[in-house]
Amino acid sequence: MTDSDLSETQIIDTKVDYNHRETLGSGLYESNVLTDQYQRRFRYLRLSITDVCNFQCDYCLPNGYQKQTAEPELSQLEIQNIVKSFADLGTKKIRITGGEPVLRKDLPEIIELCKRTPGIENVALTTNGYRIQDHYPKWIEAGLDRLNVSIDSLSPDVFNAITGHDRLRQILNGLNDAYNGGLTDIKINTVLMKQFNANSIQAMIDWVKQTPFTLRFIELMQTGDNQEFFSNNHESGEPIVEKLVHQGWQLKDRGIAAGPAKEFSHPEYSGKVGLIMPYSKDFCSTCNRLRVSATGQLYLCLFGEQGIPLRPLTYNSDTTQLNNNLIEHLKLKKATHSLHEGKTGVTRHLSMIGG
Ligand code: 5AD
Ligand code: SF4
Repeated sequence: MTDSDLSETQIIDTKVDYNHRETLGSGLYESNVLTDQYQRRFRYLRLSITDVCNFQCDYCLPNGYQKQTAEPELSQLEIQNIVKSFADLGTKKIRITGGEPVLRKDLPEIIELCKRTPGIENVALTTNGYRIQDHYPKWIEAGLDRLNVSIDSLSPDVFNAITGHDRLRQILNGLNDAYNGGLTDIKINTVLMKQFNANSIQAMIDWVKQTPFTLRFIELMQTGDNQEFFSNNHESGEPIVEKLVHQGWQLKDRGIAAGPAKEFSHPEYSGKVGLIMPYSKDFCSTCNRLRVSATGQLYLCLFGEQGIPLRPLTYNSDTTQLNNNLIEHLKLKKATHSLHEGKTGVTRHLSMIGG
């Protein structure tokens, strides 16, 4: 399929019925929080539970997942101790990510153990949407608060071309059911790509007129493995910001707990639109997140130099040592990433350390 075929492909009909409208509030304010030397406070942990993924997104795993290590994934016990340690140090929100976290059979148990950890108020899941329809009741039962699903195009053909899976309809139906089942805080991640979706941005914005999801456009990031794809496809989010302002969207004041996303709302739209622009000035100044990989490496930045192994300390339910270790390592966090100089750090692709 050529680029022009892709841009002309029909956008899927996405009219669905929504009977819930409320969104969950977030009370992410605390004084005793992990803080770095630049006075950034880290209240948010992105926890990868597997690096395995079943999709082949062109910008991430174009040739599919290849096993990197024989080291096993974090066990539930290790996850519990890591989450407890972060919660001791003020973390309120956990995002479970991957790879594709749904591929782990014990995902509901992991959601539940995060949710019942004292101090954790919010548990979110980032997924590629694989079999949402089958799984969401168990996630809700386990206490899941928020769901992020990657949808880079509303055209089934383009979606298939990007991910290698003809599953767009199933994913949208699954999202509809999950929403109506009570999982009302839903975000859609859309990576901006010149050759795939740059011509359908307005159609995606139109989609959230009736659809109560937050659509987040993410600028494509360069990683170790995607250099050529990046140079052919990177698009700035800035023109979208201008478009939104021109159309009457208003930038929301997201408070001190907000991360680096800019979020817009519009009185005539039931959904919202967000922009994540890692190449924009000051992007890193609002960084509020830390990452732990599926093998227990702490990453201070998505594009940092190396992971810090936490594993030797994760077997002990007395988390004092782990807490001290986190406090010490946080002093090393750099002010910004070096993506502008084309330095992607150790990140070969995002499924490796959790997107
Ligand atoms: N640039 C931008 N976003 C990416 N993601 C994965 N790889 C990249 C990249 N190189 C996105 C996925 C997912 C989120 C966790 O990260 O699409 O939505
Ligand atoms: Fe899998 Fe996400 Fe990477 Fe796509 S972006 S291949 S869904 S880990």
